[in-house]
Amino acid sequence: MNWHPIGDISDIPLRGSRCVKTPHMNIAVFRTGEDEVYAIENRCPHKGGPLSEGIVHGNAVTCPLHNWVISLETGKALGADEGAVRTIPLRNEGGTLYIALESLVMAAE
Ligand code: FES
Repeated sequence: MNWHPIGDISDIPLRGSRCVKTPHMNIAVFRTGEDEVYAIENRCPHKGGPLSEGIVHGNAVTCPLHNWVISLETGKALGADEGAVRTIPLRNEGGTLYIALESLVMAAE
């Protein structure tokens, strides 16, 4: 796999996120209150809301537009809502974060 560095975990506040633009899609990288990191497509499966601007709670984010709750682990909408966003493989090596670029190319095809 071609792991691409996207910065340091300390660049992301606890329960916050940062947006990473790639030629294939915009990615939201989240850091939970437990210091876990996840990368998912920055596009709500409902109507495309910017998930990176949502509220992180546990291992999920609430979309800022209409409050769908998306699992950061699976990318799936939780509760009664149905839909999913792509999850992107993310590695944390001593605080430096890497995403797997091939998975984005495949996702865009
Ligand atoms: S766009 Fe995210 S809940 Fe509607």
